[in-house]
Formats: sequence, structure tokens, C-alpha cells
Amino acid sequence: MSVTSDRVVLVLGGAGTVGSGIVKALLDKGFQVAVISRDESRLEKLKQFLPPSAGSRLHTLVGDVGSEDGAEAAKGDLLKRTGKVTDVVSSLGFSWWQGGPPHTQSLQELHRVLDTLLLSTFTAWKAFFPLVKDNPNGSYTFITGGAGERLLMPGTGFLTLGAAGALAFALMVRQEYPEVPCKLNEVKINMGVTTPERLGPGYVSHLEVGEAVASLVQKRAVSHKVLSANSPADLKTLALEGRI
Ligand SMILES: NC(=O)c1ccc[n+]([C@@H]2O[C@H](COP(=O)([O-])OP(=O)(O)OC[C@H]3O[C@@H](n4cnc5c(N)ncnc54)[C@H](OP(=O)(O)O)[C@@H]3O)[C@@H](O)[C@H]2O)c1
Repeated sequence: MSVTSDRVVLVLGGAGTVGSGIVKALLDKGFQVAVISRDESRLEKLKQFLPPSAGSRLHTLVGDVGSEDGAEAAKGDLLKRTGKVTDVVSSLGFSWWQGGPPHTQSLQELHRVLDTLLLSTFTAWKAFFPLVKDNPNGSYTFITGGAGERLLMPGTGFLTLGAAGALAFALMVRQEYPEVPCKLNEVKINMGVTTPERLGPGYVSHLEVGEAVASLVQKRAVSHKVLSANSPADLKTLALEGRI
């Protein structure tokens, strides 16, 4: 069995709120971690947040995985740097959208929301899934949210549409590829995720989420199962047990 330093985990959306917690926890466990962002300054901010010891095990590059060409280009750049990707965590999207009820919105805005939450999940998956698909020690983990199952509050309708698309995408992939050797996981987070200094009721720290997800990747213990985290206690349980 390979040690974690031999595994290269690509965290899509790794410069984001959820993704940065996952990146930190994976680095803490000794993995090599790769992050692609459209924005160099977000990568710099991520580096400031991480301990200097992450150093050579962190691979950052600027790229846009939201189109097929962009994702392929980012894949080429990444493979030149790392030579391989063994695991992928897909945490693309945005934290929140509350633009108002649907009749006040434009088609262009709906396109933007779907591009960010659903279509980038597809274009990135199309490029990176082939790298891990046939690896029995590999994994592809989708981060999804409860926003896809219900309207969280008035005015968040487009968020529901985008998040529902991402949820369905993760479900669809598991059903379309039931026998694929790599582990196909979904971690559905049914609460808000934020940084420790902004924690409040209904929120969990991105560090706790990161620990739970990194633990699952490390243990390669989940296969074709949905993990639904409802509370910080649930997340801790997932992290400790690495189930299922
Ligand atoms: N935050 C929460 O409360 C919460 C709760 C439950 C579930 N979730 C789910 O977690 C996921 C991530 O949310 P978040 O809060 O971490 O959002 P976030 O802070 O906005 O981060 C999202 C990341 O996605 C990346 N991204 C989007 N489109 C991209 C593209 N075309 N190419 C490259 N990167 C792209 C962004 O990268 P750039 O650096 O390029 O901007 C950004 O770093 C979402 O699916 C969300 O539904 C979040």
C-alpha cells in the first residue's frame, strides 16, 4: 500500500472556503496536494493560510476548469508538475447565492449559477476522472450541499437549482459507473461552512470539514456511498471512523 506522500490529491476549488480546509487537512496527513484557481491572488491567500511546512508538497497553478478546453489545459500543466493524480476532491461552486425570487432573475444569471455549480463540476470531472478511474487505490470525491434538496430561505432559488444539479451529478456518476475500480464518494454537507473566527449557529468550521474529508481520502474506505453530515458531531464521527 502506498504512503500518503506518494498520493497526489487534486482539490478542485481548493482555494475556496470548503476547499482550503480540505487542502490543509490533506497536507497535515502528508499527501501531495494540487490546487487550480482562476485567480493567482486566491492561491497566494491559500499559501498564507497554510503552514510553511506544506512547502514542496503543495502544487498550485492558475487555470479555469469551467470549460472542456480550460480543464484539459489545466490537466496538462498539472501533469507536467506532478506526473500523476491519484485522488480528486471536487469542491467547485460558491458559498452562497441569494439574488432574489426567480421571476426577478435573468437567464444570464441562471447560466452563471449553473456554470459555477454544475457545469464546472462536469468539465473538471471529464478531464480528471480518466486519471483516477482505473486505480483501485484512487478516489473521486464530490462535495455537495443540502441547498440542492430544498430552498434554504427566500430568494435562494437559483442556488437550489445549481446545487441540485451538482447533487444529481454525483449520484449520476455513481450509478453510471458502478463497477469502476476507484472509490466514488460524495460528502453532502447539510449546514453552513465557514472559517473558525466566523463560526455561529448552523455553521461548522472548514477545518472540521477538511479533517473529515481528508480522513476519508486517506482511508480509501468509502465506496459508492453518500455520506451525509448533519452536524459537527457527524463530521467528527466521519473523520474518526473513515466509514463506510
Ligand atoms: N460554504 C458553505 O456553507 C457550504 C455548505 C455546504 C456545501 N457547500 C458546497 O461546497 C462547495 C464549495 O463551496 P465554498 O463555500 O468553498 O465556495 P467558494 O469559497 O466560493 O469556493 C469555490 C471554489 O470553486 C472554484 N471554482 C469555481 N469555478 C471554477 C472554475 N471554473 N475553475 C476553477 N475553479 C473554480 C473557485 O475557484 P477560484 O479560486 O478560481 O475562484 C473557488 O475557489 C460548493 O459546491 C458548495 O455548494 C458549501
